[in-house]
Amino acid sequence: MTVPGNTFRLAHLSDLHLPMISDRLSWRDLWSKRLFSHISWRTTRRHIHQPDVLDRLIEDMLTQSPDHIAVTGDITNLSMRSEFDRSFAWLEQLGAPQDVTLIPGNHDQLVTLGSTEGSARWARWMQGDNNKSAERQFPFVRVRGSVALIGVNTAVQTPLFHATGRVGATQIAALRECLAELGARGLYRIILIHHPIGEGLVSERKALEDRADVRAVLADMGAELVLHGHNHKAEFYAVDGPQGLVPVIGVPSASTIATERERRPGKTNHAARWHLMEIAQTSTGWRTSVTARRLTPGGTFEVCGRFAFDARAPKAGLQACDQSGFP
Ligand SMILES: [Fe+2]
Ligand SMILES: [Fe+2]
Repeated sequence: MTVPGNTFRLAHLSDLHLPMISDRLSWRDLWSKRLFSHISWRTTRRHIHQPDVLDRLIEDMLTQSPDHIAVTGDITNLSMRSEFDRSFAWLEQLGAPQDVTLIPGNHDQLVTLGSTEGSARWARWMQGDNNKSAERQFPFVRVRGSVALIGVNTAVQTPLFHATGRVGATQIAALRECLAELGARGLYRIILIHHPIGEGLVSERKALEDRADVRAVLADMGAELVLHGHNHKAEFYAVDGPQGLVPVIGVPSASTIATERERRPGKTNHAARWHLMEIAQTSTGWRTSVTARRLTPGGTFEVCGRFAFDARAPKAGLQACDQSGFP
């Protein structure tokens, strides 16, 4: 039974890949990993990631008045200064920094950037409650009501043709401590991480290198929900926790149109989409209701799936939950 008046509404979107409008690359830029990402952008991605799609998604999301917004990385394409400059106007329209939580993705760390450049400039959206300095630290924790948002950074510079991520031993140890402390306080713990943590979801050259270590922490400490992006696909799966399964939800890119292939009958549509998570405390724990809203061929956003589950649900319960329309 749901305890009335105790629902937290969290919007999740990811992989904006803010469309590049007039960015000019210098020879210095081109003499780096940016060259290959730029070619990819010019030949393919610019036809898929469209600014008006992102605008309509934001409009749809803000109409639903979520309590908080989580953005799980890949805001930029090439980690260009001009892209970071433009990101502020975009982030500010989502809401005040205390109501919007952001973590970086691999595209936001495409090349080596100084300690005050790149995603470090997003400190206002990545600042934990107990870290009042401008310094960025991961994992950071933001508690909002009964919900704790835990921001993990997987963005590291990688070799050519790789989009791997890494959490690293220091951050993993801190994550273990965070989960224990927040769990002891009875909070609903949501991990925000760019790369997926399951097996076989993405090729090794795009995968999270230490995903097994993250899963080991979850198996010991648990969490109520994990949210990610990176794959540009809707995904719902679970990993082991100490008292049942930990649900994991991935969301497609927020700026994409469906490809011609995806529009064919029987194919999965990975068009722009965002998820609304409604988290309610019940007499026995937590109930999470998920509503997926996707771009339609007519250019509007409409519900394409809904399902609900109880946190720490036994395996059968999680698998049996109604996932109609998802993905
Ligand atoms: Fe992405
Ligand atoms: Fe990514």
